[in-house]
Amino acid sequence: MSEASRALVIFGGTGDLAQRMLFPSLYNLDADGLLPRDLLIVGCSRGAMSDEAFGDKVGDWAGARSGDHFTSAKWSALRGRIRHAAIDANAPASFANLKRVLGGIEETLFYLSTSPSHYGAICANLKAAGLAGPKSRVVVEKPIGRDLGSCREINDSLARTFAEGNIFRIDHYLGKEAVQNLLALRFANTLFEPLWNKVSIAQVQITVAETVGVEDRWGYYDEYGAIRDMVQNHLLQLLCLVAMEPPANLDPDSVRNEKVKVLLSLRPVSDVAKKTVRGQYSAGYAEGHTVAGYATEPGGHASDTETFVAIQANIDNWRWAGVPFYLRTGKRLPIRRSEIVIQFREVPHSVFAGNQLLANRLTITLQPEEEIALTLMNKTPDLEQMTLRPLGLNLSLSDTFKKARRRIAYERLLLEALHGKSTLFVRRDEAEAAWRWIDAIVSGWKKQGAPPAAYAAGSWGPSAAIALTERNGHSWNE
Ligand code: BG6
Repeated sequence: MSEASRALVIFGGTGDLAQRMLFPSLYNLDADGLLPRDLLIVGCSRGAMSDEAFGDKVGDWAGARSGDHFTSAKWSALRGRIRHAAIDANAPASFANLKRVLGGIEETLFYLSTSPSHYGAICANLKAAGLAGPKSRVVVEKPIGRDLGSCREINDSLARTFAEGNIFRIDHYLGKEAVQNLLALRFANTLFEPLWNKVSIAQVQITVAETVGVEDRWGYYDEYGAIRDMVQNHLLQLLCLVAMEPPANLDPDSVRNEKVKVLLSLRPVSDVAKKTVRGQYSAGYAEGHTVAGYATEPGGHASDTETFVAIQANIDNWRWAGVPFYLRTGKRLPIRRSEIVIQFREVPHSVFAGNQLLANRLTITLQPEEEIALTLMNKTPDLEQMTLRPLGLNLSLSDTFKKARRRIAYERLLLEALHGKSTLFVRRDEAEAAWRWIDAIVSGWKKQGAPPAAYAAGSWGPSAAIALTERNGHSWNE
């Protein structure tokens, strides 16, 4: 390789995220010629390991995830730039190992893929070892805290070492192609903008449905639950992108200022009994077989943590006054599907007697496939009668761009962070505003004192979720 002049250092270098996402993403980027050739990649974990042994592991992880895209020729181009450093986050002396491996490289990106409880110690130790200079940046994974207070503590501990402009809070949803495309749909077309408000839109639904259970993360998940694991970050980010005003440009602050305004306009949820639903899956049928309930998953026990949440959010501003935004996410739901549904208003008066007119609906599917569909009322061919039915104008992005490989969201985000571009990362005030809104809901639940309602694995959550929308004369898109 050419002499390394910059480095990406991954703390938690043998952890789950590193194995499943980070190293496969780095391999993919390098295989496509997108990773700087002078980039050294250092994985940090506690035990000592040779660079060769660590390189073998990385090769296995990348190979397992990248399938046909993985070739030994491409892998060998990256392998020589991978190093290992034995680091104990809480042992300042161990940072000398990292210093040795970096050998004076100043342009560094530190990726903290560890429990947030280590963030403070890692940053302090990097600073004490003289490794966090003006050319250093840090990427941190969620969860940034469990509530506003703990989020602030984490942010303060990051700020003692890094300037805010050098802190990259990752939300992998912002790296998804379809989420990016939402910006294009809204701001590269004139068609929707005049309609994108309370005059034409009756309600918005944001659903992130998963078929998986908590997998092997029971201990982690039980501390957070669906509201902290998914709503505080991924769902609120999607809501911001749907609801925000057009930014002046795509500069980090232009976009993030607009998102913060949305978060600050969210009406605090005061009536959790009416505006929210909490659920926890019980045994049922999912992914083609019978599955255990949450409490009896490996490592589990009886618990009041929710695995399903539905919320009616309201944005108190001129554009969205009176338009409910329904947010819904859960594990062990019938299908894996993330979508945003923009439900337009009904025609003010129908001239088509005998026909039921369905209001137009724009559905933006983020996964499993990326699709944009607009339903319109159409006439069915017939000489005698005027019979109408809804038909879809469908745009399938995977069919249109057949040759484009579906990228891991982390590929984009790693690249952006390496180039110091922070538009797709969460700013401090944004994370804190999101927690403020979530905290009010959680404290409402505490006061209410009711456990989450049980729902059978493989169903769409507790029946109260249906009532949540029906109360306003709406229904979920299923
Ligand atoms: C993570 C959550 O942030 O997002 C997981 O911690 C969840 O619980 C995952 O499964 C969903 O991500 P994706 O990209 O599969 O929709």
